[in-house]
Amino acid sequence: FVHAKHLGELEFLHNTAVCVDTSGKIVAVEPNCNQQKTVEALYARLRWSLEDTSVTLGWDKRLFFFPGFVDTHAHASQYPNLGIFGKTTLLDWLNTYTFPTEASLAELPKARRVYTRCIRQALAHGTTTAAYYATIDVNATNLLADLCFSMGQRAFVGRVCMDHLGPDYYRDESADQSIAATQATIEHIRSIDNNFELVSPILTPRFAPACSSEIMKGLSEVQQRTQLPVQTHISENVNEIELVKELFPDCKHYADVYDTHGLLNEKTILAHAIHLTEEEADLIAKRKAKIAHCPCSNSALSSGVARVRWLLEKGIQVGLGSDMSGGYSPSILEAARHAKLVSNHLIMPGGTLGNLSSEERDKAKLSIEEVLYLATKGGAEVMGLADKIGTFEVGKQWDAQLIWTGLVPDEVAYDDFTTYGATDIFGWETPDERIAKWVFNGDSHNVRKVWVAGRLVHEQLLRKENWMDE
Ligand code: GUN
Ligand code: FE
Repeated sequence: FVHAKHLGELEFLHNTAVCVDTSGKIVAVEPNCNQQKTVEALYARLRWSLEDTSVTLGWDKRLFFFPGFVDTHAHASQYPNLGIFGKTTLLDWLNTYTFPTEASLAELPKARRVYTRCIRQALAHGTTTAAYYATIDVNATNLLADLCFSMGQRAFVGRVCMDHLGPDYYRDESADQSIAATQATIEHIRSIDNNFELVSPILTPRFAPACSSEIMKGLSEVQQRTQLPVQTHISENVNEIELVKELFPDCKHYADVYDTHGLLNEKTILAHAIHLTEEEADLIAKRKAKIAHCPCSNSALSSGVARVRWLLEKGIQVGLGSDMSGGYSPSILEAARHAKLVSNHLIMPGGTLGNLSSEERDKAKLSIEEVLYLATKGGAEVMGLADKIGTFEVGKQWDAQLIWTGLVPDEVAYDDFTTYGATDIFGWETPDERIAKWVFNGDSHNVRKVWVAGRLVHEQLLRKENWMDE
């Protein structure tokens, strides 16, 4: 078992047993278990019978368990557009690709196909928890919540609110209608998951340029009443920031727009946060709002490079977001490796941070251990779920992925190359080196099984079943 309890540190739990009860909660983490006898003793000590509890053993060197990834920012409705963005930047990308696709999901059979594939792929890439934007359509949004629930993915599902500037064919009629529609989704989710254990609604004002003051104030009132989380975008693109200045001339800056409308608090997830000023970042830190870092999207739409170290040092909690389909990939492993690479870009000669001492340069770079923290426990903090998910600790949920980094025998590798992905492990690598090879070359091929709250929600069916046991 490998997990990141603290920023910058991975803990390797060798020869360990993690015991999960039937509700999916971790009830014991036992080191020094390396034979069946130990496990049986453990059962006896915890007074369980082998019938009502399962024990998962982690002592095959080729396999390790990792906490499920947390995607703190994803547009499920944009899933069919992954990789399609051409040379656009944010505002023309929205008009060219995004709004037409989102509007088309009012057709429910299409929404079902798109959302089913999106959730399937996210699970197959090890994402056990996601904060999703759906569309303005209530029925399609409710369908996304139904599918997350039935397919077993932990999710926040947001009905998108936008009553301003969007195209005529894709815009809320009024703030009142938008709030009523949001309320309808909240009630629907309550009807399928009363305590929002697995699936929760999330209030979703799209971003300041697409929202009237009335819609933001209305959502703030809903939030004060319900204590639900909020998600939106901030400071992603320089033209967007100019637009916000024009639209809200009385606000000091972009962060102030959300703050003065009562939407900046410890339950707010802000995506991107690339071009924030010192003052904005300080305000976000003070309000304890969270940030979804979306490096794949920031590169694809040429938005900029977020200064993650700077945000972290202000005490702001940061997670990773795929931002499908501003981002080109559903994979949080891809987001993690991209987060690492763009943190290098920041301090390269000619990079955004300019002249830094070599010590400062080294500091701005994120390590593999750090980006894996952001992908799991960091994301859990951003979603307000740190007491529930993110690490393998007693009391948390068994939200986990089983990762294969083994040596594929030559005859299998040649014979069935495509099934085993791009991570070749020779056997002499240290545990840290295995992790590094996985982070940079791993993909869904490495994800053998995925669980959410103890339920198996994804399993890779191998075409050659037997070689692993040889
Ligand atoms: N800002 C407003 N809407 C969006 C969106 O759908 N994706 C991204 N990346 N930024 C946005
Ligand atoms: Fe986004």
